[in-house]
Order: sequence, then structure tokens, then C-alpha cells
Amino acid sequence: MTLTPLAGQVFQAVRGFADHLEWELGDWKESWGILYYKEAEIEPSSSRADSPPVFWHQNRWLEPFCLTFDSIGQAASALRGIQRNWAPVLFTQFRRGALISEKLPPLPSKPRPFPWTVPPQPMGSWTLVNPRTLIGSARCSSPFPGGAIAYIEDKHFPPSRAYLKLWEALTLCGNRPGPASRCLDAGASPGGWTWALLRLGASVLAVDRAPLEARIQALPGLSFIKHDAFTLKPETLGPVDWLFCDAACYPQRLYGWIEQWLESGLCTNYVCTLKMQGSAGAGEGFAVSRRFAAIPGSVVLHLFHNKHELTWIHTAAARCQEGAGGGAAPA
Ligand SMILES: C[S@@+](CC[C@H](N)C(=O)[O-])C[C@H]1O[C@@H](n2cnc3c(N)ncnc32)[C@H](O)[C@@H]1O
Repeated sequence: MTLTPLAGQVFQAVRGFADHLEWELGDWKESWGILYYKEAEIEPSSSRADSPPVFWHQNRWLEPFCLTFDSIGQAASALRGIQRNWAPVLFTQFRRGALISEKLPPLPSKPRPFPWTVPPQPMGSWTLVNPRTLIGSARCSSPFPGGAIAYIEDKHFPPSRAYLKLWEALTLCGNRPGPASRCLDAGASPGGWTWALLRLGASVLAVDRAPLEARIQALPGLSFIKHDAFTLKPETLGPVDWLFCDAACYPQRLYGWIEQWLESGLCTNYVCTLKMQGSAGAGEGFAVSRRFAAIPGSVVLHLFHNKHELTWIHTAAARCQEGAGGGAAPA
């Protein structure tokens, strides 16, 4: 048995958006299913402009290694000897992979409540590239197994499932609004994010050109302004603890508005969706997402619950940075 460190990183593509990752990476040494091994050193997503950041992945394997082994028991005991938590990401050798998994501590499979705190133990990932060769990494950017998280959903009250990406962003932050928080929710209709924020006890100022659903509008703690959010100045809306924006808009327009907020000093924490248009690399969204990531203290991620969009998070919490997700979800 030999374990050889690999001098690069492995990127797990977002299903349906592998072309976006390929465009960002430019080239790579090898690919295995939805996994891309890039040999050169890659800077984290919030890094310098001379090393283009990579956003379109579900998980990034930070310290990959190659393990050659003779038996299933040997592979499992090598992983167990490193740490407890290992998530399989298989694209071949499914039977053999299942046999290795059976010999590893079980991972949680039930949906999580919200709020839920990510435990501190790291979550590793591994795959088999042939019957006797395993690629793995004990440290990954996502604290969730294989970069995926499911929540216990409320399938009745919220008017959309968009709140799941808000929950995921706040889980990754390790920070969230509370009863004393004043939140601005821009592009709030029909009201899923607003509902989630009100449930945390926060007061919410929701802004949208379209009305909120009536049952959301009737909730206590809410004010609503029917308006183009981006023509409202920070000084007009007043200080807020959190600014949320899920507006369907060009990221460039959002960027100009966020610049005003950052300059005003009237908000501390931000969670905003960056909506993309078109194919990989096309449109302004890809360039503007790099400008968002370059704002100090920021991270741009593709959340498990994001579709053709990224999420910009800028918060006082130290935990919320890609690669700091050393936390994990043990049973
Ligand atoms: C994806 S929906 C938001 C869903 C919402 N987060 C939820 O959980 O229900 C996008 C919203 O952005 C709003 N929107 C788009 N441009 C806007 C603007 N300039 N100002 C305010 N709202 C805008 C649309 O009216 C739409 O309601």
C-alpha cells in the first residue's frame, strides 16, 4: 500500500455546470467523472486577480492524495487511520466503493433542521479511479458530505423553496440574524427569504417591484416597500445588520448598489445571489463575480441549493470562507 500526496487540488463539478468549471480551470491534468484534478497551485476563491478564482464547484479537495491498495479492508483502514469522516464520490467501481464505505463510520443521511451548527470535525472525500487506486482528501472546502446538504423543509407555508439557499449560506457563515437584527431583503417576492428571516425573530424591511404573497405580508415584524431596490440609497433605507438580495438582476447592477452600501458603512453582513446568464464565460456575470470575490472579507460560492447562480457572502463571522470549512457533519 502506498499513499502519495498530490501537488494540486481536485474540483468536484456542479452537476449540469461542468462546462463552467472547465472554462474556469482552462486546463487540468486528469478528470475522473465529475472530478477534475488541477496540478498547479490554485488560490482560494477570494484571492488575487492574477490567479483566477474558481467558483463553479460543489466541493474542492484541498489536500488530495493517491492511495494504492491491495484489499478493500486495507483501503478502509487507511482512511480510518487518517480521520473519522469520509464521503464517497463515485463515478465507477460502485460495488467496490460500497464495500469500502461499509467498513467506514457511517455518515449522517437525515435532513438537517435549521438552524444547525456545523460540527468541527473535518469531512473528507474519496473516489476510486480503478479497483486498486483511491484518490482522496481529508480536507475539503465544503463541510457537507460530498458538498451536499438537505434540510427539513416546510412544504406548506413558504411560497418558494428559495429559502433553502439562504439557510445554507447562514449555516456556512456560522452567523445569522437574531431577534435584535434589522434585515433588508431586496428582491423579496414572493417572500421565502423574508419568511425565513422573520422566523429567526429578526425584523425585516422587504423591497420588491412585485408584492409579497398575502400570507407573508401579514406576518409581524415586516415592513414592505414596493420599489426598484437599486434606486433606493442606503441613507434612505437606514442602517441594517444584514442585507440580503435575491433579486433577478444583472450582477453588475447589484455590484453598483452594494458598493454604495459598503461605502456608507450602514450594513455589516451581506448575502446576495449573483444570477448568471448564458454559457460558460459568457455575459458579465462571470467577470462581476470575480469583482465581488475581491471585496475584502468576502467569499463567492456555488451553494448546493444554487441553480445557475452564485452566492456572495460578506460577514463579520470568521468561519465563512471557502477552505475554512474544516467543519463536518458526523453522525
Ligand atoms: C428569485 S425572486 C426572489 C425570491 C425570494 N428570495 C423568495 O425567497 O421568495 C426574484 C425577485 O427579484 C425581484 N426584482 C428583480 N429586480 C428587482 C429590482 N430592481 N428591485 C426590486 N426587486 C427586483 C423580482 O420582482 C422577483 O420578485
